[in-house]
Amino acid sequence: MGLLDGKTAIVTGAASPRGLGKATARLFAEQGATVVITDLDLAQAEAAAADLPGTGHLGLVGNVVDREACLAVAKRVIDTYGRIDILVNNAGITQPLKLMDIGPDNYDAVLDVNLRGTLYMSQAVIPAMRAQKSGSIVNMSSVSAQRGGGIFGGPHYSAAKAGVLGLTKAMARELAPDNVRSNAICPGFIATDITAGKLSDEMRAQVLAGIPMGRAGTAEDVAGCALFLASDLAAYCTGTEVDVNGGSLIH
Ligand SMILES: NC(=O)c1ccc[n+]([C@@H]2O[C@H](COP(=O)([O-])OP(=O)(O)OC[C@H]3O[C@@H](n4cnc5c(N)ncnc54)[C@H](O)[C@@H]3O)[C@@H](O)[C@H]2O)c1
Repeated sequence: MGLLDGKTAIVTGAASPRGLGKATARLFAEQGATVVITDLDLAQAEAAAADLPGTGHLGLVGNVVDREACLAVAKRVIDTYGRIDILVNNAGITQPLKLMDIGPDNYDAVLDVNLRGTLYMSQAVIPAMRAQKSGSIVNMSSVSAQRGGGIFGGPHYSAAKAGVLGLTKAMARELAPDNVRSNAICPGFIATDITAGKLSDEMRAQVLAGIPMGRAGTAEDVAGCALFLASDLAAYCTGTEVDVNGGSLIH
């Protein structure tokens, strides 16, 4: 018996092979969920879905910045499975810029994918969740939101992820009467392709020195937390931000 038996889950930005989304999708599938992977490239999303354990999973193209595309994803999932139980707003991008180097395009790109995308995908699934009187939305924020960066992303990334926390909590308040929960995960430094090749040895050593557990997190570390929040184990948790950071921020 799995923790997510009979549930349908959407995980955005989950085609990245070593990413947090893919690891989350895999764990959800192992726990009995039917998983819909969305990402920018259809072939990659389909390949990622085909790679999951079990059958019936789906890969869809879905730019989270595009409102119509988000609505189309939700409609396709409802048409195919009849329900949406879980949404993981995982799609995100980052840029290692200093404050004065953030230009309008940088701001738009980072705020749009991380924050606007979380809003648009949530808006797309909420009608179905409200109608079911159940649902769980899990948003990927970041320790950068809580401590003002200091790992890789610039101030615009910290601002976007802090925005995700505010949105998570406001959604939790508004959706709670319909038994729809909204929670955020704040991962610390996790080894994925989001920083691959862009982090110098010196930066890496500095980051590791600030982690009491002495290691980078793994995608599976984050997936485990997403599973808890998505499942009925977290039935009374809403509006929370859960740290998955090896102790790098204890507050
Ligand atoms: N890796 C870390 O250390 C870390 C730490 C804190 C938070 N996070 C957050 O976790 C999430 C996943 O990060 P990751 O490390 O797995 O990154 P990743 O780069 O491996 O994966 C991100 C995925 O999002 C997709 N994506 C980008 N823009 C998109 C869009 N507009 N629409 C749909 N999909 C889009 C990419 O194609 C990619 O597959 C992100 O939100 C990231 O900000 C990561």
